[in-house]
Amino acid sequence: MSAIPEDLVWVPKASAIAREAGARLREFFAQGVETEYKGDVDLVTVADRTVEKLIRGRLGEAFPEHGVYGEEGTRERMEGEFRWYVDPLDGTTNFAHGFPQFCVSLGLEHRPAQGAAGSGQDEDGTIVAGVIYDPMRDELYTAERGRGAWLNGRPMHVSRIEELAESLIATGFPSRKRHDSPNVHFYQEFTLRSHGVRRAGSAALDLAYVACGRMEAFWEFNLNPWDTAAGILLVEEAGGRVTDFSGGPFQLDSHEVLASNGLIHEELVGLFKDMFAGRDLAPIPTPEEFAKRRAERAER
Ligand code: IPD
Ligand code: CA
Ligand code: CA
Repeated sequence: MSAIPEDLVWVPKASAIAREAGARLREFFAQGVETEYKGDVDLVTVADRTVEKLIRGRLGEAFPEHGVYGEEGTRERMEGEFRWYVDPLDGTTNFAHGFPQFCVSLGLEHRPAQGAAGSGQDEDGTIVAGVIYDPMRDELYTAERGRGAWLNGRPMHVSRIEELAESLIATGFPSRKRHDSPNVHFYQEFTLRSHGVRRAGSAALDLAYVACGRMEAFWEFNLNPWDTAAGILLVEEAGGRVTDFSGGPFQLDSHEVLASNGLIHEELVGLFKDMFAGRDLAPIPTPEEFAKRRAERAER
């Protein structure tokens, strides 16, 4: 397979920035950092703030016209035609506990022109570039809209598994307002109907894992644009699908993300529909039914 094209517009510079930011995270991780609380379990460290500052500066040098919207408070050039959504450290809780699953996430949105019909300050544009860097594994995930998606410069593709019953999937739980989250009920149902549900603590990496075929799907309630912007483009450009829980268009601020390899998407949407409606769910297949379905698929 061909390597990453040389004429990508934003990925080369954004990749260098993500790598530099990731290297800083690795240093902080090795030395250990003090943790502060934003809420009862919502953590932040000096690493989150220092690395956001670094990324803000580097993006300003590389793309002086572009806006920057970061989790730790950066709001720059918000009127710009392009806007970077920055999560300097996705997986802070992991990081603070020495659990090596976290990343840098940079997603670039092309926004509707100011004053254009139907445009508005909060209307979603189109995500045109995404870069996620896992500094502990030295894995760089990149995509540009219409051009493809790559893991360390090699094309990546979603998995070809066709059924939830044979899928490994992922979710996450909020640290803010966690008492209000209904997700544990979904976690239970999906766990019983799949090979398992991972809850690894970095939504951006969860999306990257769907994109590269390590997992078949990911869902979460109440994420923010800095968590999802890069990852959703990776999934789409790797051949997968991203929607809200009802199968409608995904929106950056809709607080619902359902990403999959595409092949199991309708099955997932059906399950969400039944659960939200409080309907009896289809029974979980017995081992015999499961074996029969496998055999039928093998014959196709
Ligand atoms: C969190 C992670 C986690 C998800 C939370 C996010 P943070 O981001 O992505 O996996 O479950 O909802 O807030 O706070 O570590 O940047
Ligand atoms: Ca995050
Ligand atoms: Ca973060």
